[in-house]
Amino acid sequence: MILKPERVFARDFEWRHLARFAAGAGRRPQLGVVSGRRRQGKTFLVEALVREAGGFYFGATETESLSLYAEALTEHVGAPVPFRFGNWDEAIRQTFAIGAERRDLMVIDEFPYLSKVSPALPSIIQRAIAVDAPVSLLLCGSAMSVMGRLLAGGAPLRGRASMELVVRPFDHRLAADYWRITDPRLAVRTHAVVGGTPAYLRFVGDDTPQGLDDFDAWVQRTVLDPGTPLFREARYLLEEEADVRDSALYHSVLAAVAAGNGTRGGIAGYIGRKAADIGHHLNVLEDRCLLRRDLDVFRPSRSVYHVCEPLVTFYQVVMRPRWGLLESGRATAVWADSQGRFHDRVVGPHFEELCRQFARIEDVFGELPGEVGAGVVADAERREQIEVDVVVFAPAMPGEPRRVLSLGEVKWGKRMGPRHSARLRRAREVLGTKGYDVRDTVLACYSATGFDGALASEADVRAVGVDELYG
Ligand SMILES: Nc1ncnc2c1ncn2[C@@H]1O[C@H](COP(=O)(O)OP(=O)(O)OP(=O)(O)O)[C@@H](O)[C@H]1O
Ligand SMILES: [Mg+2]
Repeated sequence: MILKPERVFARDFEWRHLARFAAGAGRRPQLGVVSGRRRQGKTFLVEALVREAGGFYFGATETESLSLYAEALTEHVGAPVPFRFGNWDEAIRQTFAIGAERRDLMVIDEFPYLSKVSPALPSIIQRAIAVDAPVSLLLCGSAMSVMGRLLAGGAPLRGRASMELVVRPFDHRLAADYWRITDPRLAVRTHAVVGGTPAYLRFVGDDTPQGLDDFDAWVQRTVLDPGTPLFREARYLLEEEADVRDSALYHSVLAAVAAGNGTRGGIAGYIGRKAADIGHHLNVLEDRCLLRRDLDVFRPSRSVYHVCEPLVTFYQVVMRPRWGLLESGRATAVWADSQGRFHDRVVGPHFEELCRQFARIEDVFGELPGEVGAGVVADAERREQIEVDVVVFAPAMPGEPRRVLSLGEVKWGKRMGPRHSARLRRAREVLGTKGYDVRDTVLACYSATGFDGALASEADVRAVGVDELYG
């Protein structure tokens, strides 16, 4: 087994697959695909792999890749006469010849740049693979739309890959370790700004907040400082991922969602357009993994959009409305003025999402969860809509009523008490009348601020504090 170098934090699962792939090089033909949004550490991982296991690595660029590729390949094999390729067909044929002969691992990073200029590349690769020579080709890239389509139904490479790895952001616990944060209250705030993207620690020169009382100063000297690469990152993300021309409308859509308008109609209303006008933009943003559409667990015909990347939400809520001031170095004033919006629209919803994550990864309610999400319970009798932030179902069993393991409400800045549990209890009662199995449903109150003592005496209620999310 090829050992993971110490400088690679976490990523044990990813490394295991990569190492197994590398170990198979030269034994059989293999195609591997590594994808994931920008800055998640794909290049870092595959470069480390090539360094440990040996092989050829090429990182494509937007221009001149073919001549650079020829140079890199020449250097790799130490060919006395430099390779020269007229097109990618030739280049790939040569790559396969070299891979088959030397039995090397061949890695092409930023593959979408290549397939953009040479759309035939996947078919060329597919033909080369079909020859059955023992070549190991690893394609890597971040344009989610391109990488996703590479293996989709009907695509030439469909069914060819023996490894498909998606490199995701660190979850909230790993992110806290990575940022060397031990106080959960600080960890939630920090994660609400920089999320779990590994590169962002480098983007701020390894500057981590030194405690809760350093958080405000940290925000001002990092993400709000025009001198750090993090400052412009949220804008770059949209431009790089979406490859869009009319970025203004895309930004408006993201701003609407970040402001808490998650429905299609709500987004359209917020930016003053008709719902039909923004359909394409929503699709593109969803396709590029910048937006995510979550179904209402009780009314699957309704859905709510969420921004996937915390930094984008932070940018839209805190930075974009005050961009000019921030560019001229007024971070202190902007930050002081943003406190309400930061807590209500950034940290609050983020904490809610973390609570759903928590319910997803842990057997919090005694058994393995099936679906976890949010939903609205319509209480016809009282003419009320009860929003439930964290709904945990047991795995669905065909022919049986859906069993609800837990109904939960989340509060970032409020203490929770019996009036919160009473709402949840009513939701449970209503769901019972609608045919859900609520016999074992636990009512969960998630608060980052604390609980009234009275809650402790309610046997069907579980209080989850912020510490437990990081337990
Ligand atoms: N597991 C990790 N441990 C430590 N540092 C990491 C890890 N993953 C990423 N990093 C840091 O993040 C930086 C950026 O990662 P990298 O450039 O590999 O991301 P990427 O997914 O290739 O992004 P892009 O799509 O923009 O090319 C790395 O140079 C490294 O400093
Ligand atoms: Mg990269």
